[in-house]
Amino acid sequence: MATIFDGSNIGFMLLPVAVFAFLIVYLGSPLNQNTNIAGYFSSFSASNSVYGEANELVFESSRPSPSQPHQFPTRIKRGGEKIEDGLARARAAILSAARLKNYTSYKEGTYIPRGVIYRNPYAFHQSHTEMEKRFKIWVYREGEKPLVHGGPLNNIYGIEGQFLDEMEQGNSPFAASHPDEAHMFLLPISVAYIIHYVYRPLVTYSRDELQRLVRDYVGVVADKHPYWNRSKGADHFLVSCHDWAPDISGADPDLYKNFVRVLCNANESERFEPRRDVSIPEINIPFGKLGPPDKGLPPSKRPIFAFFAGGAHGYIRKVLFENWKDKDDEIQVHEYLDKKKTDYLKLIGQSKFCLCPSGYEVASPRVVTAIQFGCVPVTISDNYTLPFSDVLDWSKFSVYIPTEKIPEIKTILKKISLKRYLLLQKRVVQVQRHFKLNRPAQPYDMIHMLLHSVWLRRLNVRII
Ligand SMILES: *[C@@H]1O[C@H](CO)[C@@H](O)[C@H](O)[C@H]1NC(C)=O
Ligand SMILES: *[C@@H]1O[C@H](CO)[C@@H](O)[C@H](O)[C@H]1NC(C)=O
Ligand SMILES: *[C@@H]1O[C@H](CO)[C@@H](O)[C@H](O)[C@H]1NC(C)=O
Ligand SMILES: *[C@@H]1O[C@H](CO)[C@@H](O)[C@H](O)[C@H]1NC(C)=O
Repeated sequence: MATIFDGSNIGFMLLPVAVFAFLIVYLGSPLNQNTNIAGYFSSFSASNSVYGEANELVFESSRPSPSQPHQFPTRIKRGGEKIEDGLARARAAILSAARLKNYTSYKEGTYIPRGVIYRNPYAFHQSHTEMEKRFKIWVYREGEKPLVHGGPLNNIYGIEGQFLDEMEQGNSPFAASHPDEAHMFLLPISVAYIIHYVYRPLVTYSRDELQRLVRDYVGVVADKHPYWNRSKGADHFLVSCHDWAPDISGADPDLYKNFVRVLCNANESERFEPRRDVSIPEINIPFGKLGPPDKGLPPSKRPIFAFFAGGAHGYIRKVLFENWKDKDDEIQVHEYLDKKKTDYLKLIGQSKFCLCPSGYEVASPRVVTAIQFGCVPVTISDNYTLPFSDVLDWSKFSVYIPTEKIPEIKTILKKISLKRYLLLQKRVVQVQRHFKLNRPAQPYDMIHMLLHSVWLRRLNVRII
């Protein structure tokens, strides 16, 4: 077990999965003196548990060449030290809040995360507070619309454009006014727009052009500014909900080894790396709205036991349909609904459990819709890292059914007592705020959860 800052590491406290190596490029801060650093230059192992299973992860961090620190102008080194001192204070505050089990920064009127839906509510609260206090992101100015500096604001990839817009509008408190004060650097690229504009008409599924465009962008900013090379990309990130987004790094995995990819398509079988990348929810954003209001019938008055309606996309739904399509009164699985006669959202709000099987990709906007309508999500997927699972314990407010157990859906759900269902449902309502999109963003909402996930990854990296 690696010991970092008194025997724990921020990622470890919040999520066993997110145990990070500290990437130490140069050490100079007095605040770091009491830390045993020698171990971080060689590889270290950390025992780690995912849903109760013990895994062993081994990370390597590279030793810098002795000449490296001297290549940077002093100004940047000092800026870096100041930033690292701030991060060290944030880590100390988080560890202390977790140790004392106390909400030390309690402010009147602010939301206080409480209860079992959080892996560690004290650490999360303190970490979110520290983030609000300090976190700054530099959005690179290079490049032109429409491939850069904008993305779709609506539909299922809408989070991409909404996030870029939030960061680039000029009034986000998280937007740095100078790159030297930034903790993280955002590549303002929209993969969805690249696909939309460059692959129109769609004559090829080859990812070459997408990969080339993103690599070129990295090349431009790495050439012009010192930041990418300084951290080997570890304090850089990109946000995309498009299915193809994970492929940006396919052609040159080494270039993106440390780069943080914030993705909806968090498929661990397609090189999604939970300790480096971030899983965000896919949401369907209707035109002119940020989403439906949270609603639905009271839990005990819901007439439908379990519900799904949607296309036969991908292998999981094929199995689901083979077993359940139009076969059972309680497990209601439909491929098509008569849009004139039925109101899909109303049905979700009348259901106790909402089946959320993966489609063509692991993520489905159904998960967020279910949460918004107070329906307990039943995720049916393989190798999917659920959104924000650094801080949220999904097992406390949702049901997970692996693909191979699809025939047993009814047995599994029927075994859940009414008391347990009511508890799950109550927690779904509690978790709603984290899946709500607000513009401008508000504490603990979806955009803040996204930012916090990125912040957490930055906390576990030290760059000077
Ligand atoms: C938590 O912190 C507050 C303020 O620092 C203090 O008054 C309170 O006694 C602490 N509670 C516990 C349980 O330590
Ligand atoms: C960063 O590294 C690349 C590749 O080694 C190099 O071409 C580029 O000039 C470097 N950037 C800076 C700002 O020194
Ligand atoms: C993906 O899930 C399957 C089925 O649960 C499992 O056998 C496999 O090891 C997983 N693969 C990865 C890369 O996690
Ligand atoms: C996840 O990735 C694996 C490997 O590419 C693929 O076989 C699987 O279909 C993907 N999952 C979904 C739901 O698309």
